[in-house]
Amino acid sequence: MSGTGPVGVGVIGAGTISGQYLTNLTRFPDVEVRVVTDLYPQRAAEQAAAFGVAESGPPELALGHPDVEIVVNLTVPAAHAEVSLAALAAGKHVWTEKPFALDRAAGRKIVEAADGGGLRVGGAPDTFLGAGLQTARRLIERGDIGTPLTALTLFETPGPADDHRNLEVLLSRGAGPLWDMGPYYLTALTQFLGSFRSVTATGRTARPTRVPRTGPRAGTPIAVEVATHVSVLAEFAGGQAATSVLSWDSPHRRVGHVELAGSEATLSVPDPNHFDGDLHLRRAGDAEWTVVPATGPVGGRGLGVLDIARAVRTGRQHRASGLLAYHVLDTMAAITESIGRGGAVALDSSAPRVDPVEESWDPYAATL
Ligand SMILES: NC(=O)c1ccc[n+]([C@@H]2O[C@H](COP(=O)([O-])OP(=O)(O)OC[C@H]3O[C@@H](n4cnc5c(N)ncnc54)[C@H](O)[C@@H]3O)[C@@H](O)[C@H]2O)c1
Repeated sequence: MSGTGPVGVGVIGAGTISGQYLTNLTRFPDVEVRVVTDLYPQRAAEQAAAFGVAESGPPELALGHPDVEIVVNLTVPAAHAEVSLAALAAGKHVWTEKPFALDRAAGRKIVEAADGGGLRVGGAPDTFLGAGLQTARRLIERGDIGTPLTALTLFETPGPADDHRNLEVLLSRGAGPLWDMGPYYLTALTQFLGSFRSVTATGRTARPTRVPRTGPRAGTPIAVEVATHVSVLAEFAGGQAATSVLSWDSPHRRVGHVELAGSEATLSVPDPNHFDGDLHLRRAGDAEWTVVPATGPVGGRGLGVLDIARAVRTGRQHRASGLLAYHVLDTMAAITESIGRGGAVALDSSAPRVDPVEESWDPYAATL
């Protein structure tokens, strides 16, 4: 437990996603964004001005800022570990965008640095704290689907176009459909089925090179470093099984499909990349799905930061924790290993149990 009043936040990385974070973080009374920073200080200055944040500059400004307690790391995947470790070394709590790190060793270092410094670390996604997946969790824990047995998740799109601004980043180590979108689906599965025990996967790369149509490398072929179609068979510590497809090789777009089959009913939950959405329930013998509206607070990107802020002041455990993000990283590393060498890869990390979000939890209330 420490300090009083709203918790000071410093953002590092003022790119595309910073707009969603700043929209929400500047509306949650329990946090106060004190500074926006980026490798390109001009970009930081523009975002600070757009959201009424007083200060902006290079990343060091956030790291050394006396009124920043939580650093929000919104940099590109290859910079995540370095920026998170620098923030922890500076004595700041950390929230990082996904993936938590590019490999297990870096992920472990982050968790250990936080523990060693008595600091909090948490990682995206925080979508599972929203109304959609929390309603699903309440329904499952109430026994509405009976004993959860299996899950099916599908994310299939044509992938980024040749003129996508970040094409090269998206096709590099740390991205691809598994590392870019997997965190949403795999984290959701941990909330319903618990820890992954082992994974068996296949991966394919339909186009081994791509030619960007924009940016500094326009017209030059780039190597695709990642599988662009990934199929996973997963086993959970509790004995359940799941099948997941993460693909950027599908002309047909089908995303956000997360279906849980239990002994009494099948539940289709909202897109785990969103904070809201209807649920659909089909009990054994039903001819149709029953729509179940989501209830409770919706929020948006930044809920995980707010949860850390409130946890810092009250001393309780935060939900989107480093250990959970590490387990998801470990699962993605195991899937990548299985694609490379074939066969099942066992996991030795586990997902901590996460406190549910109460329906009365209000991100817009001043509680500190
Ligand atoms: N774009 C989206 O829709 C989206 C959605 C959810 C999550 N994310 C995640 O958010 C993160 C950022 O994505 P984005 O789309 O905003 O990327 P982006 O490329 O638009 O922005 C990244 C920013 O980070 C800055 N940066 C890079 N390395 C840095 C460093 N070492 N120190 C300081 N600043 C640095 C860059 O200059 C850039 O302004 C990624 O991890 C991505 O997976 C993105």
